[in-house]
Amino acid sequence: MPARHVMDLTDLTVEECLDVLKLAADIRNRPGDYIDCCRGKILATLFYEPSTRTQMSFQTAMLRLGGQIIGFDNPQNSSVSKGETLKDTVRVISGYADVIAMRHPLAGSAAAAALYSRVPVINAGDGGHLHPTQTLADLATLQQEKGTLSGLVIGVCGDLKYGRTVHSLIRSLIRFPGNSFVLISTPHLRIPAYIRETLTAAGCPFTEVDSLAEAMPRLDVLYMTRIQRERFLSQTDYEKQAGIYVLDKEKMALGKADLAVLHPLPRVDEIAQEVDGDDRAKYFKQTEYGLYARMALIMKLAALPRDNPPLALTGDRHVCANEHCITRKETYLPRRFRPIGEEMLQCVYCDERFSAR
Ligand code: NCD
Repeated sequence: MPARHVMDLTDLTVEECLDVLKLAADIRNRPGDYIDCCRGKILATLFYEPSTRTQMSFQTAMLRLGGQIIGFDNPQNSSVSKGETLKDTVRVISGYADVIAMRHPLAGSAAAAALYSRVPVINAGDGGHLHPTQTLADLATLQQEKGTLSGLVIGVCGDLKYGRTVHSLIRSLIRFPGNSFVLISTPHLRIPAYIRETLTAAGCPFTEVDSLAEAMPRLDVLYMTRIQRERFLSQTDYEKQAGIYVLDKEKMALGKADLAVLHPLPRVDEIAQEVDGDDRAKYFKQTEYGLYARMALIMKLAALPRDNPPLALTGDRHVCANEHCITRKETYLPRRFRPIGEEMLQCVYCDERFSAR
């Protein structure tokens, strides 16, 4: 596979992505054939932010392939608590492991880690930015449960602003023909500018609406998300957004008979427990598909040779406008931007767009 680091699933071509999904389906059907595929290989999970599913599914994936795991899930127990930079941690760990899966509260952190890593880095969630392996799980679920990745009307509901799973999902699904989106959120939690721009550039139809009930009858897929307390600047801001969207039996009654309801989990109150028994609720199956998808991705990346990244990198004079961007904390990172038109810049780490003046 030519893609080395996976910051987003769009780092893989559509063919490579389908290839990973095909391998994932085969592993699911014949897990016994894969128990030795990563024997002698090590996966490092560097989790700077809490996680249950993602971390454990990465670890389980590597163990089920016959490999081994190292890492931390609480940076306070590592040298990070002594003030070690991300760059130094990654340089050291990439000398030990064959693949790194990293989760971090700041946007662009995995891209920063990839600059200094000798082995493939998988973004396991960087702040409110992207989360490619959740998208792999989502695509595997749609492929298996809907039988297609194309021609779908996909409703995405909840925190579209900070929801990294939403951003990666949209960026991937626009690459398949005939998909359209109904983006359901409060005005405060609408999708960020770079995702809206991606949709427009791809010519993908989308509407932005407030009402889940009104959207329900049109949807083939409903992707529910949690309002993420930890992404808000204050508790009051969070409380203003919490509890607005709740999928319950009444709303399910408005949905199509073959609707598929997905959720990256964890759920708080946005899907009532009573929905769990509905055949259209796919979110627990989705976690299982995610395991096989991660196994397939790890298998492909662990086979790549070690690399020696250049250490002297030059940067730009501008400063990213996103205060949650990794370059604002790890200030040694070379600042890099893509020009957008005459006046705007887009940060290559976190995708924030801002005026260059
Ligand atoms: C999501 C995440 O961490 O972004 N969960 C996950 O990876 N399964 C969504 C969330 O935390 O709400």
